[in-house]
Amino acid sequence: MKHIVVLVSGNGSNLQAILDACQQGRINGRVEAVFSNQAQAFGLERARAAGIPAHALTAAQPADRAAFDLALMLAIDAYQPDVVVLAGYMRILSPAFVAHYYGRLLNIHPSLLPKYPGLHTHRRALENGDREHGATVHFVSEELDGGPVILQAKVPIFVDDDEHEISARVQQQEYAIYPLVISWFVSGRLTLRDNAAWLDEEKLPPQGHAAE
Ligand code: GRF
Repeated sequence: MKHIVVLVSGNGSNLQAILDACQQGRINGRVEAVFSNQAQAFGLERARAAGIPAHALTAAQPADRAAFDLALMLAIDAYQPDVVVLAGYMRILSPAFVAHYYGRLLNIHPSLLPKYPGLHTHRRALENGDREHGATVHFVSEELDGGPVILQAKVPIFVDDDEHEISARVQQQEYAIYPLVISWFVSGRLTLRDNAAWLDEEKLPPQGHAAE
């Protein structure tokens, strides 16, 4: 059974989708541990409810990113992860952390990357009058929200939508695509090579696997 470690900062609804997918056998792996940089993160509660070790690693000196990430890496590596999954982990990672897990570090971002890296993606899409929006699962590289795209899901934006409605619509898609990508990875179908994502030995295009 492949070892999955998940990092969260908040609600952990994506974590829940991953836990459910493992439970239902849609992911051939097990979440060995959940870490959070926020002691109050509800994601930690979800892990405990599923009987999974849940650790809060809060930064005494948040500015010392290198030291914090080193401590986090040591704690994560105790679980011998095959893949480290960022699921709403709201902390910028140090280059050493990214390098250490390069090729087995996944993130989900609430936009159709390369559009809207960073924060407030739903608001920005709305303010720009976009008619579609979505979520992206990608390998993590040193560039913020910039690593090779694996899979995107699109949602429409309707005229009367507010930020909350768009966010909810995007999240429903996240719960489908993140477990799917993790299942590809743990079954060995998905790899990172030459700074590109490969699925079943085929190099994926810049927008990832064609979902449509
Ligand atoms: C998700 O929308 C994800 O795209 C972003 O943070 C949010 C996390 O939500 N990275 P949750 O904690 O999984 O509910």
